[in-house]
Amino acid sequence: MNAADFRQEAAEVIARHAELDSEAVARMLTVPPKPDMGDFAFPCFTLAKKLRKAPPLIARELAEKASADLDLLSGADAAGGYVNLSVDRTRFAEAVLHEAAAGEAYGRCQDGAGETIAIDYSSPNIAKPFHVGHLRSTIIGGALVRIFEALGYEVVGINHVGDWGTQFGRQIAGLKHFGKPGDENDLMSLNRLYVQFHEVADGDPELVEEAREWFRRQEAGDPEALELWRRIRDTSLDYFKRIYERLGVRFDSYTGESFFNDKMDAVIEEARAKGLAAESDGALIIDLSAEGIDTPALLEKGDGTTLYLTRDVAAARYRHDTYGCDRIVYVVASGQSLHFRQLFTVLKLLGHPWWKDCVHVNFGLVQGMSTRKGNVIYLEELLDEARQRALTYMREQIEKRLDLDDEETVAEAVGIAAIFFADLSKQRIKDYRFDWDLAISFDGDTGPYLMSAHARIAGILRNCGIDPDPEADVGPLVEPEAHRLVSLVARYPDILREAGRLYEPSVLCNYLLELARGLHASYAVLRVKGEEAGKAQARLLLFTAVKQVLRSGLTILGIRPLERM
Ligand code: ARG
Repeated sequence: MNAADFRQEAAEVIARHAELDSEAVARMLTVPPKPDMGDFAFPCFTLAKKLRKAPPLIARELAEKASADLDLLSGADAAGGYVNLSVDRTRFAEAVLHEAAAGEAYGRCQDGAGETIAIDYSSPNIAKPFHVGHLRSTIIGGALVRIFEALGYEVVGINHVGDWGTQFGRQIAGLKHFGKPGDENDLMSLNRLYVQFHEVADGDPELVEEAREWFRRQEAGDPEALELWRRIRDTSLDYFKRIYERLGVRFDSYTGESFFNDKMDAVIEEARAKGLAAESDGALIIDLSAEGIDTPALLEKGDGTTLYLTRDVAAARYRHDTYGCDRIVYVVASGQSLHFRQLFTVLKLLGHPWWKDCVHVNFGLVQGMSTRKGNVIYLEELLDEARQRALTYMREQIEKRLDLDDEETVAEAVGIAAIFFADLSKQRIKDYRFDWDLAISFDGDTGPYLMSAHARIAGILRNCGIDPDPEADVGPLVEPEAHRLVSLVARYPDILREAGRLYEPSVLCNYLLELARGLHASYAVLRVKGEEAGKAQARLLLFTAVKQVLRSGLTILGIRPLERM
């Protein structure tokens, strides 16, 4: 018996007496507006037409029939046009808590068993300053990787690094003109030289021409240009890998744009052979107007340099063939919506039926996160600033000082939690303004708030002086606050499914906030210390289950649930 069985019974009993299909009923079930009204609500409005009766009358009749036909549920009552069904609270708590408290596996499922999803995320451009949009992609993509893993999918994390393009010509020219030996091995120097190049280039057409020449040489396979490109690439990748480790994200593959240099001719050949490609102003294009897209897909520019789109076509085919993936997910800013519509349509026209399984998971802009001009950020500086601000906040706002070793670790985790949660808790499509004070606060809707809720339960479990009994009798959990927490814990597996279905980590964020608030409201009522043993054990079991869910949810979001802070 588990939590889903209760819902199942609610759907079945209604289905039986309303002569409906139980799956259809299950989809219609909602939650009553107040917890004391019941656990599931069935709206009777759509039945009114069929039965030629008013919804409240239907609800009364259905509630009466259902009441006499319950097992795991304890009651069915009409309220307006709804039938509200209540679970047998003790049996419900028993089913939910013993499973949830048992460990890491709670909430995870095997829905995706046998399916592989490739998730293309982060994908920064090398030899260009880091853009804050890439941080969003890193944070959202990382959360999606962990959500889909929890749902039982095989997940391949791919970093489609922007490691080829005209910017390398500029970077190399900057290096040659303003750099000193060894600068190619240091990312900060490379960034500085890139900026310097752009400052000078405006009034210096010769320098611009030189940059073009370097990229031409690079594309032509010139050994010196390629060697410099490789060094710059390695320097950048080393830097990013360090940051990724700090952020706790992982990639199975770094097959960036350059990897597809020799795989694009095949795409172009095939587009020609299928009669899709056309010359236009010296460029090679695919007209997509018949597919409802006005802007043609650009396969090749007049000067022979191939483009972003062509690489992406090659990359999608490569991923499909190499990983046998059932789905390819691209976590990229909304600004690229047209690009992905074009990409998926080109795949379709090339005859790949799996174009339908490609998804652009888009997101809006972040303001207020740049540490320098524009939307460019220095990741390492940003993370250092986050840690510093967390440290200051903890020293000034929180009475209890931790010993210094711990303090640094906690500050690092809190800083990252602040940034991650600020980002993940917004619906991803929305633009948002990042604000340090709001993000770091321990008592707003923040990552640090959730971390402290987790640490607080950890403290209760540690300090209660009782050995928790995982088989404790849940009978004493009669308070509405306890039932509310049990109901929330019960929802966790479906929350993960919903977050995955919508590619929307904010679903999980909102849920965890609700859970933490429920917890907060329960402390005064559900004391452990000094209570009679049976009651204390039942409450400890409840807190253990809540802690388990917080821990699991935070980890999925990329936030470290600490035991003390
Ligand atoms: N590097 C690209 C950019 O910054 C993002 C790449 C996204 N992934 C892809 N397969 N196109 O615009």
